[in-house]
Amino acid sequence: MTDTPTVTVQIDGEPVEVAAGASLLDACRANGQPQPTLCYVETLHPVNACRVCVVEVEGSRPLVPSCSRRAEDGMVVSTDSERVRHSRRMVLEFLGSSVDLSLADGEVKEWFAQYGADPSRYGPCSPPQPDRDQRHAGHHVAPDGTTAETVEQPVKVDNDLYVRDYSKCILCYKCVEACGEDAQNTFAISVAGRGFDARISTEFDAPLTDSACVYCGNCVEVCPTDALMFRSEYELRQAEVWDEDRQEVTTTVCSFCGVGCNLELHTQDERIVKVTSPLDHSITQGNLCIKGRFGYDYVQELGDDLATTPIDEVLRAARTPGTDAHA
Ligand code: SF4
Ligand code: SF4
Ligand code: FES
Repeated sequence: MTDTPTVTVQIDGEPVEVAAGASLLDACRANGQPQPTLCYVETLHPVNACRVCVVEVEGSRPLVPSCSRRAEDGMVVSTDSERVRHSRRMVLEFLGSSVDLSLADGEVKEWFAQYGADPSRYGPCSPPQPDRDQRHAGHHVAPDGTTAETVEQPVKVDNDLYVRDYSKCILCYKCVEACGEDAQNTFAISVAGRGFDARISTEFDAPLTDSACVYCGNCVEVCPTDALMFRSEYELRQAEVWDEDRQEVTTTVCSFCGVGCNLELHTQDERIVKVTSPLDHSITQGNLCIKGRFGYDYVQELGDDLATTPIDEVLRAARTPGTDAHA
C-alpha cells in the first residue's frame, strides 16, 4: 500500500496539509475557510472567469485564482489581505453595477456585505441595450460618465422548456462548459463579442429552436444567477404563483431508461414545478437528458378533465399559442 502524497501550505498563518494536486481552494476549504466563488463548481473544469476567489501568494506578483491554482509545498497564502479584499470588492461592484443579481444565490448577497461592495457608487443604470446581440466584436461606445452601463436586454422566451434572461448573466461560462466538453458535448452555446459586449449566444444568435440545443437543461442546472430558468418557474414567477417556501424536493430515480439518473422533483401544490439532479451523484453529477429533466407531464397531465390548480392554469396558458399567460 502506498501513502497518498501530500503537500503542506500555510493559509493565513496556519499549516494545512492536502493531497498533492489539490487546489488552493481545496486547501482553504479543508481549513474551514470557504472562499467566494462564482464561476467554479466541482463538476466542471475551472475557467478562471470571475476572479472573485483570488488570494495572495507570497512571491507571486499578481493575485492568483484559488479555484484553479494547485497547492504547492511551502506556499504562503493570504485570503483576507487588503489587496485580496480590494480585488474582490471591485469584482463584486462591477458585476453588481451591470448585472441583475436579484436571484443570485444567497451567499452572493452576503459577500457584498462582507467586502463592503457598493455598486451604487457607479451611478444609476444606463437604459436597456436591445441591440446587444447585434453588436460586432470591437464595437465601443464611450461611457457618458454619469450612468453605469448594464447588460440589460429583453428576456428570450423562444421555446417551451427554458428561458434565457441575459440581464442576469455574469459570464461565468458554466453553461458553456456544461453544454460542451464537461458534460453534454453539444456545443450549442458559446461566448460571442468582446469586452463589455461579450455575451452567451447560440450560433448567429439563432433562436434555441433553430440551434443545436438538445434541451438537456444541464446549463440551467449550473447557472448561478437564474439567467437560465426553467420555463415553468419563469411563468409561475411572472404570475406570482411561485413560492419556494411551499415547495418540497423529493429525490427519486428516472424511469425512462436503464441509466437510472437521480431526479429531484420540486413540487408545489402537488404539482411538479421543476426537476433538478444532485451534483454529488457519482454517475450523473447533476446532468440529465431531456426526458428526465422535462418529461414529467405524464404524471400530471394538464388536460381539461382534471382538477385545476392555479399552477395548471398558468402553465396551460403558457403552452397555448395566442394566450396571454399572465392575463
Ligand atoms: S447564462 Fe448563467 S451559467 Fe451561463 S454564463 Fe451566464 S450566468 Fe453563467
Ligand atoms: S435522465 Fe435520461 S439518461 Fe438519465 S435515466 Fe432518465 S432517460 Fe435515462
Ligand atoms: S471562482 Fe475562481 S476564477 Fe471564478
